[in-house]
Amino acid sequence: MCGLTHLIVFVSIFAAITLISEAQYILPIFKHEPSKQYYTLIYIGSATTSSPVNLLLDLGTNLTWLNCRNIKSLSSLRLVTCESYTCKFITGTTGCDGKICLYREPSPFLLTNHTVTKTDRVVQDKATIFTTENGVPPSIVSFRPFTFSCAVQSNLQGIASPISGVIGLCSGEHPFWRQVSSAFNVIPKFALCLPSSRVGKFYMGATSSFNTPLFGGNNPVPMTLTPLTLVSGKYLISVTSIYVDGIHLPVNPSLLEGGAKLSTVVPYTVLQTDIYDALAQSFTFNAARKGMSETTGHAPFKHCFEEGASGKNIDVSMMEIGLPGNGKEVKWRFQGANIVERVSETVICLAFVDGGNKPNEFMVIGTHQLQDYLIEFDFSTRRLAFSDPLSLHNTSCST
Ligand SMILES: *[C@@H]1O[C@H](CO)[C@@H](O)[C@H](O)[C@H]1NC(C)=O
Ligand SMILES: *[C@@H]1O[C@H](CO)[C@@H](O)[C@H](O)[C@H]1NC(C)=O
Ligand SMILES: *[C@@H]1O[C@H](CO)[C@@H](O)[C@H](O)[C@H]1NC(C)=O
Repeated sequence: MCGLTHLIVFVSIFAAITLISEAQYILPIFKHEPSKQYYTLIYIGSATTSSPVNLLLDLGTNLTWLNCRNIKSLSSLRLVTCESYTCKFITGTTGCDGKICLYREPSPFLLTNHTVTKTDRVVQDKATIFTTENGVPPSIVSFRPFTFSCAVQSNLQGIASPISGVIGLCSGEHPFWRQVSSAFNVIPKFALCLPSSRVGKFYMGATSSFNTPLFGGNNPVPMTLTPLTLVSGKYLISVTSIYVDGIHLPVNPSLLEGGAKLSTVVPYTVLQTDIYDALAQSFTFNAARKGMSETTGHAPFKHCFEEGASGKNIDVSMMEIGLPGNGKEVKWRFQGANIVERVSETVICLAFVDGGNKPNEFMVIGTHQLQDYLIEFDFSTRRLAFSDPLSLHNTSCST
């Protein structure tokens, strides 16, 4: 009896160890100019006839959708029926077209346009991505079923031309990272390293830190943790305060109560007017002290500066966002190229946008601020981990 118990305990420990794989799954991240849209590339279809498809990264979309005309061979594509478990799991706001499951694709650009586009069919096919374990060079790996929805070209309004759909990174119905984590039995987490140029990386899985030349090895870039909350499909972090060069920015705490939303489709952080004004005032003061003179705004920016005698100097101010950490406040630091945008040879602008007095969200952190950080969304701990600015470590997301 006792021996059997021991055996069961041993077997279950063994099972617990082998259950979750250490492998990580990787996709490239590209930045499209001048739209500043970030997208990834996956292959859809059976191995011999698979088609490359570029998909916009969107933290606000649950189910991936794309123009299925970009898939060359539809031989392995299957329609998802209304009676299927997959459809029942997706449904809610969606319906059926006869026997076929329908999905309503939201616009990724919710801030500028709340229109919900038409509903389209839910389908499944095979998807091909990359994998690596213990730092070995990546190899190709496929999984099926990969569930997504087929949209018509008109749904792609506002999306740059090399991109033919949206990859769902939210946490509702079948986001891409959840499909990967269940197909390969890896921990439900993903991380983004948005490049300012060239190619960045989108990681999924791996229980330990991401095994990359940047973050593994003897000298990893430090990561800071803060709770991640999900409110009606938005990824939010709680902001306790804002600092500029270590000095508390005078903003009414009630303005920060709603927290900050993270976005991979908003190019520049949008701040409610009072928060924006406080930041701009402090930044303008520091720019003047550095010998810069204010010049006319350059849409969408309101505050721009001639570098003048100060020479090329983007290090005007350091901004920090105070966040709840493990029992004490932690700070997310933004500086240099994450704070300003160069609009001409001699003019730089404060790379933030005034969102007006009563925006839907008082703080939306956009991609100009998020680029060149490793940002990890861990659903096993409900935490967000963000790295030091990679520029501080003489590195970047670009490879
Ligand atoms: C929102 O989208 C609709 C339909 O595509 C369009 O008619 C409208 O002008 C858009 N509104 C804004 C503010 O972009
Ligand atoms: C995504 O799923 C979440 C959780 O189910 C839901 O709250 C949210 O409204 C969904 N987002 C969209 C755009 O449908
Ligand atoms: C980054 O480079 C600068 C200048 O080359 C050097 O002073 C600094 O120590 C480097 N920092 C790290 C973390 O390697």
